Amino acid sequence: MTDNFDYDVLVIGSGPGGYVAAIRAAQLGLKTACVESRETLGGTCLNVGCIPSKAMLHASELYHEAHSGALEKFGIKLTGAKLDLKQMHAEKSKAVDELTGGIEFLFKKNKVEWLKGRGAFESANSVKVGNKTVTAKNIIIATGSSVTPLPGVDIDNSKHVVVDSTGALELPKVPNHMVVIGGGVIGLELGSVWLRLGAKVTVVEYLDKILPGMDGDIRKDAARIFKKQGFDIKTSTKVTGCTVKGKKATLTVEPAKGGDAETIEADAVLVAIGRKPNTDGLALDKAGLETNKHGQIEVGHDFQTAVKGVYAIGDVTPGPMLAHKAEDEGIAAAEFVAGQQGIVNHDLIPGVVYTYPEIASIGKTEEEVKESGVDYKVGKFPFAGNSRAKTNRDTDGYVKVIADAETDRVLGAHIISSLAGTLVAQVTQAMEFGTTSEDIAYTCHAHPTHSEAVKEAAMAVQGKPIHM
Ligand code: FAD
Ligand code: NAI
Repeated sequence: MTDNFDYDVLVIGSGPGGYVAAIRAAQLGLKTACVESRETLGGTCLNVGCIPSKAMLHASELYHEAHSGALEKFGIKLTGAKLDLKQMHAEKSKAVDELTGGIEFLFKKNKVEWLKGRGAFESANSVKVGNKTVTAKNIIIATGSSVTPLPGVDIDNSKHVVVDSTGALELPKVPNHMVVIGGGVIGLELGSVWLRLGAKVTVVEYLDKILPGMDGDIRKDAARIFKKQGFDIKTSTKVTGCTVKGKKATLTVEPAKGGDAETIEADAVLVAIGRKPNTDGLALDKAGLETNKHGQIEVGHDFQTAVKGVYAIGDVTPGPMLAHKAEDEGIAAAEFVAGQQGIVNHDLIPGVVYTYPEIASIGKTEEEVKESGVDYKVGKFPFAGNSRAKTNRDTDGYVKVIADAETDRVLGAHIISSLAGTLVAQVTQAMEFGTTSEDIAYTCHAHPTHSEAVKEAAMAVQGKPIHM
């Protein structure tokens, strides 16, 4: 396909969107290169996002179980469990190195060339990388996102006081008091890590509830569970300033609607108020492109931008900023470039918050269904009625299934459970095939498993759960 170009496909960015697009393009026989400015491949997700955060979540959960006495009721007495934070960080880095190295191996195996450096458009078919210009028939922009700054709160990860998620994954000691600005996914996941390791954690959230975008019941019940764990959650509150003296920060906060200000002292402040698409320095204008009012690059159903031959995927485009969305778009975009039909169902992208318990969501929230005017039924089943969860002493949470009242088609499912991230996959797959709640209710689920709660929630839509 190369005609007079250096490559058939040039991908800018090697996150889950970019590296997957590059590998699939190469698998389809296209001469492919990927531009990445980091020292390692894998983007935000593998280097400073999904992977290191899950490593710290897992390790901190093990520490908490060993240290808190939570295992005693199972007859496991542990004394002297100690935290070796340096070792915890080292094991996390090892996992990251293995996975980023794995992408380098896959690039070699599939003959994807890694062009090291920052890419900037020179035209719709050429990109400057360092001091070299490369040309490509097709270009896929997969430059991802970075933290949204908060005016008046200056992030400096090197000082370990006011940090973003990258800094919060590297703190060299457990803070006495961490203030998390933003009660979203990052705030609650990384807040959980440091809470379990011994910090007092205060979450300051601008809105009246944490986890915006999630189902209303889930948001309410998750807040209750997190408060029970020890989180101090201040909703409807805004941060108006932050001063740092040495290793201490003083935050000024006030009610979101205005009112009396108060100060909060902290020795770590995590800014987690969202992420913004990365387009700075890309010289999009040279390719004839511009961003929308949210700074994102708009694409059509085939992930092609307004300019023929230039595609965009992942966090830099509209939609949820999730690794699996980026990956699926990467595969689909490469398939479109190769003249095939790529498929991503944007109505069915699961979302999982990896706290304890996990919180998972697929399809529409009850609020969205109500807003759409469709008549609906809800079935809920608590893990307190699930034999495996009861046996494991793991009963926080429930499954909520929402179905169309007329057709019984499942419109959404929302789960709080230690295994929510795994359980949501079965509902996602069922919904992809247009399932009804009755289909789920009459599918045999293995006993004793947490998945039986999904079946019983579906039975509850029919008004006939057994164990409730
Ligand atoms: P990115 O992963 O951001 O990769 C973009 C890459 O492009 C980067 O490596 C960057 O260096 C490179 N780049 C940018 N501009 C240029 C340029 N001009 N030239 C060369 N290279 C360039 N999502 C989940 O689904 N599950 C999770 O558990 C999860 N946990 C997360 C935890 C944290 C702390 C964070 C911050 C994010 C998390 N996410 C998670 C979100 C997830 O990381 C992103 O949705 C995902 O990485 C987006 O992939 P991407 O390919 O679009 O971009
Ligand atoms: P977020 O959008 O999830 O949450 C940001 C929170 O900050 C919101 O609750 C918002 O109301 C609040 N907020 C905004 N401005 C504020 C202010 N001035 N003061 C106080 N609160 C304020 O964003 P977050 O947590 O930064 O994560 C960014 C992205 O990364 C998310 O879109 C998410 O999809 C992705 N991510 C996904 C993970 C996962 O899938 N498990 C884990 C971590 C991140």
